[in-house]
Amino acid sequence: MTGRVMITGITGMIGGRLGRTLAEGDLEIHGVARFSKAHPSVDEVKSWGVTPWRRDLTADSLDDLPDVDYLIHQACQWDAPKGSSADNGRSRSEPQKAESDDPKEVAATNSTMALKVMYRWRDARAAVLASTGGVYPESTEVANEDIPPAPGPEGYHLGKYAMEQIGIACSAEFGTPTAILRYYWPMDFEEHAAFYVAAVSKSEPIPGTGAEYPYRFAPIDLVDVCRYTVGALDLADSPPTILLCGGPEIVSRRELVQIAADGLGVDPVFDDRPGEWPPFLSDSSRLFEILGEPERHLPETVREVARAARR
Ligand SMILES: NC(=O)c1ccc[n+]([C@@H]2O[C@H](COP(=O)([O-])OP(=O)(O)OC[C@H]3O[C@@H](n4cnc5c(N)ncnc54)[C@H](OP(=O)(O)O)[C@@H]3O)[C@@H](O)[C@H]2O)c1
Repeated sequence: MTGRVMITGITGMIGGRLGRTLAEGDLEIHGVARFSKAHPSVDEVKSWGVTPWRRDLTADSLDDLPDVDYLIHQACQWDAPKGSSADNGRSRSEPQKAESDDPKEVAATNSTMALKVMYRWRDARAAVLASTGGVYPESTEVANEDIPPAPGPEGYHLGKYAMEQIGIACSAEFGTPTAILRYYWPMDFEEHAAFYVAAVSKSEPIPGTGAEYPYRFAPIDLVDVCRYTVGALDLADSPPTILLCGGPEIVSRRELVQIAADGLGVDPVFDDRPGEWPPFLSDSSRLFEILGEPERHLPETVREVARAARR
């Protein structure tokens, strides 16, 4: 693949990883964000080989940004603290604060960003929109593409559902081939495994706090998230292709604690409250059939990190 790519949310967890990964290849990578945090800075993003653009996607004109062949829209706003329970590979001690707790504002922000980027880059050869499994109702059923979305009342979930609808409408109006990926628990497996192993070695129950982190889930490593997101550019169509993008297996905290304890050679301490935290279950086999199986498995990573810590 050659050409110019615009990644929105270049300072974010997935946008940043995508930018760094793609800049190593033949593509010309541009990234847009407000650069609202100290890191990554404009200079750090430049050092990856990505051309940074400081813009507020809800308020600023995007007219002077370059035309691109491919759009990957990752930027979003949350109305719940993200990463408060060591999910997403972020530290438990440094939870991310939500920018707004007003659901109406968050929904409007996510919708506005979607409309502005889909309009600005309507002539792109393909667009990928990063959505979420949060567009589905909370359920003990395993979600797949045949289940109709029914987002909960959080502004984030409503906004991402609105983003999908805007993507569908813009694709119809402008003819932009589009793919929508509903991510399920994207995270850095190495960091997440290190968190488990550190806690289990101190006999701390996992996670100890927070309903944010589900009891059973199908997490996906950022390596696979990047691969599928780029692969989805080839699947873009009008009307849009919509696929789940979760991990290869459903795992529970109990299993991960047991694996970490076995690897460390210690007795596990469980914090089992399965009724208290909802499961978050996905079946992404349709994506895997088209783009291949995921490379990374969280249980394997936890096992490797635990064994290495024991040595
Ligand atoms: N992480 C998850 O658990 C998860 C799960 C399912 C789906 N997703 C989806 O995956 C995508 C990426 O998630 P992530 O975890 O990488 O998000 P993230 O780390 O919170 O990054 C969000 C990005 O959006 C940018 N942004 C926010 N408001 C903006 C605005 N008004 N103008 C320009 N840029 C703005 C932020 O940069 P500045 O603050 O510097 O502007 C940042 O680069 C999102 O669309 C999310 O909905 C994530």
